Amino acid sequence: MTVNTLRLLIDRLERERQLEKSEFITLLEAYQNPELAASLAQRAGAVRDAAYGRAVFLRGLIEFTNFCKNDCLYCGLRHSNREVERYRLGPEEILERCRLGRALGFRTFVLQGGEDPYYTDERLVEIIVALKAAFPDCAVTLSVGEKSRESYERYFRAGADRFLLRHETADPEHYGKLHPPEMSLTNRQRCLFELKDIGFQVGAGFMVGSPGQSFASLADDLLFLQKLSPQMAGVGPFIPHPRTPLGAYPAGSTELTVFILGLVRLMLPRVLLPATTALGTLDPQGREKALNFGANVMMPNLSPLEVRSKYDIYTGKIHLDEEAAEGLDRLKKHLAQLGYETPESRGDFKAFC
Ligand code: 5AD
Repeated sequence: MTVNTLRLLIDRLERERQLEKSEFITLLEAYQNPELAASLAQRAGAVRDAAYGRAVFLRGLIEFTNFCKNDCLYCGLRHSNREVERYRLGPEEILERCRLGRALGFRTFVLQGGEDPYYTDERLVEIIVALKAAFPDCAVTLSVGEKSRESYERYFRAGADRFLLRHETADPEHYGKLHPPEMSLTNRQRCLFELKDIGFQVGAGFMVGSPGQSFASLADDLLFLQKLSPQMAGVGPFIPHPRTPLGAYPAGSTELTVFILGLVRLMLPRVLLPATTALGTLDPQGREKALNFGANVMMPNLSPLEVRSKYDIYTGKIHLDEEAAEGLDRLKKHLAQLGYETPESRGDFKAFC
């Protein structure tokens, strides 16, 4: 297929915000075509600019527990990995990090953790209430995994604004290869639809290049995003972790990941789309490339320094320099050089524009 024919598909995705599965596959298969990728970046950047201007929204990421009851085959924090030094942060430590974060200019705090039963609904609600009371002008985002509808409702009533739960892969067969039998794609998707229904701004997403993933599975991921229409989407490359069953597989590709970010931007023009830490870990220019393909969120690490290396989801995860709260000034200057603003605002999803 010629570049011009492929460009017509990109034009149509921009206009109609949807494509057939086979059309997504055709585009994905051509991701290495530099002319096509350049056109996609140009369109995706323009769509992002039209929706949010040149703003890149910053979120302070607090990794508050690395205990996890799950055993996902790709994740370094999986239950079976006995070499992880496990830690938990208490409410006071979390509040302290948010105090620092607010002074640095963050207006969103993302509380992310493994699925740790120690944090019962009561304990999580207590933390949410304390955060919202101390920082009423800030958004609280939770990333704490699969729960019942009742639990999600309690977090929402306590004041949590947003929820991140990557669907990981929308292809049932592939899902089965990445997860132990007790986990199910159906339950994960149930969670996402319930979270949305409850009123959270919801983030889904997936890894690119995980072992056994095909272009057809990636097309399923795009179709799932189309169906869910989340306010946020986290898409990052798979990076092997040596202490996992998938540790010997190669990492995903930067080029394919950013190409997919571009497609997501065209499909969901107002989606809040992070340039992920995984992309920055894989490729020093990764996050800059993501911005070129329509990303508009970054999540610097605001966890206490002494726990950061223990939140070891994948090999070599960067957590110092510009991806850390301490490097925020440098990050902001770098973004300014690239022509982006970093407003001190919550950076909520724009329902209309
Ligand atoms: N490589 C890249 N991303 C990973 N995640 C977990 N393990 C890995 C890995 N090995 C991602 C998952 C999860 C998010 C918190 O981190 O998509 O949802």
